[in-house]
Amino acid sequence: MKEWSNVFEPALSEEQRIPFAMKGKWNTEYFKNDHPIVLELGCGKGEYTIGLADHYPNKNFIGVDIKGARIWVGAKDAVEKGMTNVAFLRTKIDFILDYFEVGEVDEIWLTFSDPQPNKPRKRLTSKLFVDRYRQILKPGGLVHLKTDSDILFESTAEEIKEHNYNCLELTWDLYGSLPADLDEKTREIMHIKTHYETLFSARGATIKYCKFQISER
Ligand SMILES: C[S@@+](CC[C@H](N)C(=O)[O-])C[C@H]1O[C@@H](n2cnc3c(N)ncnc32)[C@H](O)[C@@H]1O
Repeated sequence: MKEWSNVFEPALSEEQRIPFAMKGKWNTEYFKNDHPIVLELGCGKGEYTIGLADHYPNKNFIGVDIKGARIWVGAKDAVEKGMTNVAFLRTKIDFILDYFEVGEVDEIWLTFSDPQPNKPRKRLTSKLFVDRYRQILKPGGLVHLKTDSDILFESTAEEIKEHNYNCLELTWDLYGSLPADLDEKTREIMHIKTHYETLFSARGATIKYCKFQISER
């Protein structure tokens, strides 16, 4: 994976950490265009990163996860498909501010994030994390959450209400509530299935989805 140009693996230990060269320069230095940047946080094998990139050649996609073996699958897929609008960043999302400049990102997808039943602050939609997203997102930038987890979805709905985020969509049954007249592209995007969605759906889980904007910085 180290030889692949679409994967970034910055050092994580305190002693080895250096300022990340691509911070604020993803478009000028890596993608070589000025297209919007979309992140999938906790991307696993990167099914959304790849699926969205396929649908939106005029946007740039970066999958972020700490697990190298999972990222490897998505990175290989992107290389084999010759995708130039895809990259992967192996790091902890906790340090996301080290890798993206203020206002560098247009959209964030959270796909089947760990529900962290006993550690609410570690949830990727906790205030701690959303305050980081607020920094790197452009004003009006979107956060999407797709999940099977009642705990995570319930707590996200509460966070949205408590902190007055602008909720644009929220459904406890995504596939049961897609409007009949939904355009084909959006329908296809909503139906992208990640590894964990496939596992959870096989056990009968109902898929939840919400989309919100975080208030101004
Ligand atoms: C349940 S898996 C979902 C993976 C993928 N999105 C899917 O739907 O198949 C959660 C993923 O989030 C990653 N993850 C969780 N917390 C993280 C953090 N703080 N920093 C980086 N990755 C994290 C895990 O490594 C794991 O791959």
